[in-house]
Amino acid sequence: MKFQSLRGMYDLVPDNLSSWQFVESKIFEMLGSYGYKEIRFPIVEYTDLFKRSVGESTDIVEKEMYSFEDRNGDLISLRPEGTAGCVRACIQNGLLHNQTQRLYYSGPMFRRERPQKGRQRQFFQIGVEAFGFPGPDIDLEMIFMTSAMFKALGLSDVVTLNINTIGAADDRSKYINSLVKYLQKHESDLDEDSKRRLKKNPLRILDSKNPDIQRVLSKAPLMIEQLGKNARDEFDQICSTLTKRGIKFVINPKLVRGLDYYSKIVFEWTTTELGSQDAICAGGRYDGLVEQLGGKFCEGVGFAIGLERTVLLAEKLEIVPENFFINSDVFVVCDESVWSHGILVLEELRSKCPGLRITFNCGGGSLKSQMKKADRSGSRVALIVGDDEMLSNSVSLKYLRENKEQELVDVKVLPGILDSIFSIGGD
Ligand code: HAM
Repeated sequence: MKFQSLRGMYDLVPDNLSSWQFVESKIFEMLGSYGYKEIRFPIVEYTDLFKRSVGESTDIVEKEMYSFEDRNGDLISLRPEGTAGCVRACIQNGLLHNQTQRLYYSGPMFRRERPQKGRQRQFFQIGVEAFGFPGPDIDLEMIFMTSAMFKALGLSDVVTLNINTIGAADDRSKYINSLVKYLQKHESDLDEDSKRRLKKNPLRILDSKNPDIQRVLSKAPLMIEQLGKNARDEFDQICSTLTKRGIKFVINPKLVRGLDYYSKIVFEWTTTELGSQDAICAGGRYDGLVEQLGGKFCEGVGFAIGLERTVLLAEKLEIVPENFFINSDVFVVCDESVWSHGILVLEELRSKCPGLRITFNCGGGSLKSQMKKADRSGSRVALIVGDDEMLSNSVSLKYLRENKEQELVDVKVLPGILDSIFSIGGD
């Protein structure tokens, strides 16, 4: 019997991971340069946490969570997203009391959706959350940062920023009244899900993927038309500052996001390069969430980047530099008869040249086949250890990419020579 991974869950083998590491390194670099710190929290939480935050009548909680009973009867779920766990962790660890936070996390999330290209049941996000800032400066910082990330990745030309505001709480309750009035007039055209949501959580009808419902919604009132002055002014300010910075965006009044915790600004970066799974990064403000999860009032705003989709884009556009796949600088080729001497020379070298990536040819083989491996490793230099080298306590240094003479180097001076070839010390 051969075991297979679960549907919608997959392995990432070393060759695929290079493009992941490229994408992640660019994003982490940018997070560092904006002063964000890492936070880590569990993959499993009490199911109620997600019900209270993401929302009981969202698709995620109603249909997509991996929930089960723990052996002691507790109801627990694999996290379908990171914001809820991050807020819970911040409250529990006292991170929101009289202070602000700029945080990020990364890791797997789980949603039992129908798998397809760019949509998995286990998928990876890098999520970013900031707490204690009333905005809109931090909202803009987040959007600037996402824009800078896509620029650093070389994806600016294929992504579009969509933004909208879903208003402050009182704007939203007025809007919900007008939406309900409109939908009640069309109740006979609604499907069962939407009829149920009309009573429980009418805003979620806007997320429906049913084309008949979307037709009914095409004439529904829009939130943006019903904003109070404050929310309107703030939204205008965000839009005009984005324009000043030269960031193109589309105001998309239908963008409401499929999670309940948002208020005011919401945004999504989409692409036309990946078919129907077009959102690669999404987020917004969620000022009520900390209180809703038992903390004292504290503003929140954040976003998450979907890594599968970003990596698919990076691979499609071939933006990952070729030398990014190389993980070896020096390859040590060793005659089988002297391997136990060679491996000691190499260990000594590793301790003297930290930072240099050295691969030892474990497993023996002819010198010819070892040289082929050295070449395939992408290393710049091969060090060859045979009988003669052992007797003279030296190694033969061969340049694999440059037209330079092979030389015999005493092991005592080898670290210095490698240092000058690779500028390990840097300048
Ligand atoms: P979300 O829109 O549900 O937001 O997910 C963010 C991103 O994760 C999506 O834009 C998409 O790229 C990716 N994603 C979602 N589901 C899948 C899937 N099944 N397969 C592959 N990629 C997927 C959130 O999760 C919020 N927590 C974001 C946030 C943080 N808002 C405020 N702070």
